Amino acid sequence: MTQAAEPRSGAADQGAVERGADIPTYGNLIGGEWRPAESGRYFESVNPADMRDVIARFALSDAADAAAAIRAAEETLPAWRATPAPKRGEIMYRFGALLAEHKERLARAMTREMGKVLAEARGDVQEGVDVAFLMAGEGRRMFGDTVPSELPDKWAMSIREPIGIAGIITPWNFPIAIPCWKMMPALVAGNTVVFKPASDTPHCAALLVELMHESGFPAGTVNLITGSGEEVGMPIVDSPDVNVISFTGNGDTGRQIAQRAARRLKRVSLELGGKNAIVVMADADLELAADGIVWSAFGTTGQRCTACSRLVVDEKVADELVGRLAQRAADLRLGSGLDERTQVGPLINAGQMEKVGRYVGIGQEEGARLEAGGAPVTDRDGLEHGHFFAPTILDAVKPMDRVAQEEIFGPVLSVIRVAGYEEAAMVVNQTRYGLSSSIFTRDTNTAFRAMRDFTTGLVYVNAGTIGAETHLPFGGMKGTGNGHREAGHAALDTFTEWKSIYVDYSGRLQRAQIDNQ
Ligand code: UN1
Repeated sequence: MTQAAEPRSGAADQGAVERGADIPTYGNLIGGEWRPAESGRYFESVNPADMRDVIARFALSDAADAAAAIRAAEETLPAWRATPAPKRGEIMYRFGALLAEHKERLARAMTREMGKVLAEARGDVQEGVDVAFLMAGEGRRMFGDTVPSELPDKWAMSIREPIGIAGIITPWNFPIAIPCWKMMPALVAGNTVVFKPASDTPHCAALLVELMHESGFPAGTVNLITGSGEEVGMPIVDSPDVNVISFTGNGDTGRQIAQRAARRLKRVSLELGGKNAIVVMADADLELAADGIVWSAFGTTGQRCTACSRLVVDEKVADELVGRLAQRAADLRLGSGLDERTQVGPLINAGQMEKVGRYVGIGQEEGARLEAGGAPVTDRDGLEHGHFFAPTILDAVKPMDRVAQEEIFGPVLSVIRVAGYEEAAMVVNQTRYGLSSSIFTRDTNTAFRAMRDFTTGLVYVNAGTIGAETHLPFGGMKGTGNGHREAGHAALDTFTEWKSIYVDYSGRLQRAQIDNQ
């Protein structure tokens, strides 16, 4: 077994409760203490670029551990919600600064654990810093409304209150950013958190909560519990003591969570992916469009909810654009993301390798033409122990083909040729998802039509479909979610209850809707 050097810079690895001969072992963080799972079981996290590299062992928890984490969150809730919001924000500022200080260490750990190239891993951590600072500021804003009353000598206002305990269930593709998107608004609003990260990235989660702990979040405000969705995630969803669930991930799991939570009328915020399209009009700057498409389709190895998986191109420029893209895709350098020269890292695991390969086959059976990639890459030195798949382009895809409809979550771009804007807009919207979309055009009128017509939560003009910033709402329409948004001040809506308050200082009974007529 090879053991890649663990990149560390400073912070003691408090989460590692016990060290075996060569692999660290992590427990759950419950009430400020690292504890093994009650069952004593563990699972391993491995490097997808080199599966011989075992990163660490993590608690394989179950419902008993989930219950302990929920209890700890419950015990801490009264004191945390009584802490003034600006004070909660100050702790968050400290956390943002500490995260920035440890950016390189966390980025390297992230690349090792989930494969994205270093530059992108640094971006992922940066997104966590950005949202920490944004939400820290909310500690001094968290605006409600103060409005005039319809009656004299009466005052009316609305305030936000914490909803209670937040169950945070996160994916592996943004293992620092997405937990921060969810935990920062939850915490600044005065909720306590039970955090269940994806089983492919428990190390990133452990490093993240270590830093939160070090920043001064009181014991029990953030409780980390690792294990499977079925054994840990679902008990959190089912618990009568957890008031809100925020989940990003697979659509089937999201639907299951919503159904189970509905039995308790529990609030659920879902972000379930996309089938995002880039439109390229005949008047577009084709070189700029090619840059945007390659970045959006093959960046993060296509493993972003916002990744571009459909290119909708005007037939007048299709041959030229597809030719350029096929060349660019073939030239991309695959390898370990820790090598700064690498442009495309591995897929996350064997299941994803199988899925991506299967979809390439399905696409070809549906009549698509393979223009680039299409197969795993194992024959180049250093790639044989990882999950590498060649950046793939399928041309002549029809809008309702499975490869144009189903989320593949890998480096596969389906090209759909259209005759002009009207058809392009129809194709963009012909999907059950609605997360991100983009148009490349030099015509301002066409750009504005797209901004109006595309049924997605994010629309880009002359840029790819990825790279949303943390101070605007993030989320999708239609089957991408259930109407909630993360990031921006909209994120607070998931984690707060509105309370409307009326103060009558007239000294007499005043009846609204009656006495003012
Ligand atoms: C995701 O893939 O779930 O807009 C999140 C982007 C990133 C976030 C992606 N800021 O691509």
